[in-house]
Amino acid sequence: TELSHIRNFSIVAHIDHGKSTLADRLIQETGTVQDRDMKEQLLDAMDIERERGITIKANTVRLDYKADDGETYILNLIDTPGHVDFAYEVSRSMRAVEGSLLVVDSTQGVEAQTLANVYQAIDADHEIVPVFNKIDLPASDVSRVAEQVEDVIGIDASGAIAVSAKTGQGIHEVLEAIVTHLPAPQGDRAAPLKAMLVDSWYDSYLGVVVLVRIMDGVLKKGERIRMMSNGSIHHVDRIGVFRPQMQPVDELGPGEIGFLTASIKQVRDTRVGDTITHEKKGCDTPLPGFKPAQPVVFCGLFPVDSAEFEDLRDAIEKLALNDASFSSEMETSAALGFGFRCGFLGLLHLEVIRDRIEREYNIELITTAPSVVYHVYMKDGTMTELHNPADMPDLTYVDHLEEPRIKATILVPDDYLGDVLKLCQDRRGIQEDLSYAGPRAMVVYDLPLNEVVFDFYDRLKSVTKGYASFDYQMTGYREDTLVKMQILVNDEPVDALSVMVHRDRAEMRGRAMVEKLKELIPRHMFKIPIQAAIGGKVIARETLSALRKDVTAKCYGGDATRKRKLLEKQKAGKKKMRQFGKVEIPQEAFISALKMD
Ligand code: GTP
Repeated sequence: TELSHIRNFSIVAHIDHGKSTLADRLIQETGTVQDRDMKEQLLDAMDIERERGITIKANTVRLDYKADDGETYILNLIDTPGHVDFAYEVSRSMRAVEGSLLVVDSTQGVEAQTLANVYQAIDADHEIVPVFNKIDLPASDVSRVAEQVEDVIGIDASGAIAVSAKTGQGIHEVLEAIVTHLPAPQGDRAAPLKAMLVDSWYDSYLGVVVLVRIMDGVLKKGERIRMMSNGSIHHVDRIGVFRPQMQPVDELGPGEIGFLTASIKQVRDTRVGDTITHEKKGCDTPLPGFKPAQPVVFCGLFPVDSAEFEDLRDAIEKLALNDASFSSEMETSAALGFGFRCGFLGLLHLEVIRDRIEREYNIELITTAPSVVYHVYMKDGTMTELHNPADMPDLTYVDHLEEPRIKATILVPDDYLGDVLKLCQDRRGIQEDLSYAGPRAMVVYDLPLNEVVFDFYDRLKSVTKGYASFDYQMTGYREDTLVKMQILVNDEPVDALSVMVHRDRAEMRGRAMVEKLKELIPRHMFKIPIQAAIGGKVIARETLSALRKDVTAKCYGGDATRKRKLLEKQKAGKKKMRQFGKVEIPQEAFISALKMD
């Protein structure tokens, strides 16, 4: 296909502003999928995505569009994940296209993820067409949103298109704008092959499928290709495009987006952002800016039933095959037995993996507190990365610690601003900016990631009744006075409850944790001290008093059914307990104890 007849684009939007609905409508309007085959949200293939309404993996579709000028164009849409955890994937898919539709819900206006995503599009030098969605709703206010887009984002909104992805109104205008406003790709057919690896995933029939954007040269079936990041060679056994189901093609030329399969065993062997070329007569320089995605949040996953350890290993291995950014290694904990220390791109990524293990593999899990990666500088000048508070080296050898920081952008209606500022302040935030985007405040904070990974989203949502939107990016590491706080139950440290905290907040956190644990741990036949300690020093303490021996006898004296019911109930409850020394700790304690409210 001639370059002048190709348009490549993505859709950027805040969650729920209608990105997937618009994509579905574009697919339908171009007749790519017959109406009767049209399912809602075609692009969100996985069940879990559908249920949660979030797009995790970038998907793509090729549309044939006969424009008003009489010519037929190929429109390639790459659907990008909208969530902060997948920011790196977003930035790579942006580099694979020349333009973006900026979808803003005209009943809501610009939100934090609108900003984060549109800045990525601007960084990638995109032409941007604003699309104001949901004009079928009475609360729609297109001129207000246009003003916001110009004031806050600083792009021209005069060519914006008002649409309803629900009713189909304005969809034709969107297709015309793609053809007339977005630039055609550039590339040299005669040059050596240079293709970007945009995404990859595991397909149970085909093995690893690789999504590519051809920059220069031509890729054909049967050729041998080289991954430039590691030099590995593969034989291409299939190439094709998505309509949205896979359709084989003879070749992929410059400007085109399609897939290849090459008997690649694991998704791990393909790296998003890598450059693919031919084995022989390949290109000399790879595409710029390649970096593999690094996990930033770690936590332990343990089976509730220790007999399910092997099943868990199996589940984790299978999930890791299809997700290069998810890491795991075996871990043993005195309290929880055998499990895995796993690394994730962020909290949502963690939740998705945990849900899939519980749901698809039917394994009940204990998840320990999420922790970020600390840099521990030793007195001998070396630095180690700390993924697990339990591994904190002896303080006598430690010189200082550094923790990761983020730049957080929060948009919130003025009424809730005070609560948001307080929350950020409580989490050791440093305010960097405060401005207004229409009736809403936009605050920018420098925050320790550690204070955000656990329950910041939840707190933010609850103090603003769901009206705030939030986005963040990592900025780097900074030194602070961080300490490891241990929890001792019945005088024994429970490693799975160890956390890294700021020294100034340790007493408060310690007291909150022991108070929570006192509520969560059932009474036993003996007295149980619950303590928080730093080094050898106890900073908070509660005592769980003993059960009186005659309690059961008195209560359940004669009534046999009641007694049996109670025993059954206790048995069911027991399954979710972990024996620790002489004490039984319920599963929920490992997460609930850490919540800060
Ligand atoms: P993700 O891709 O999952 O991040 O979200 P999204 O931006 O794709 O949102 P989605 O397309 O799932 O739409 C969110 C909700 O808005 C859904 O309930 C849609 O049915 C609804 N919706 C989308 N477009 C319109 C529209 O034009 N009018 C109305 N009334 N509802 C819409």
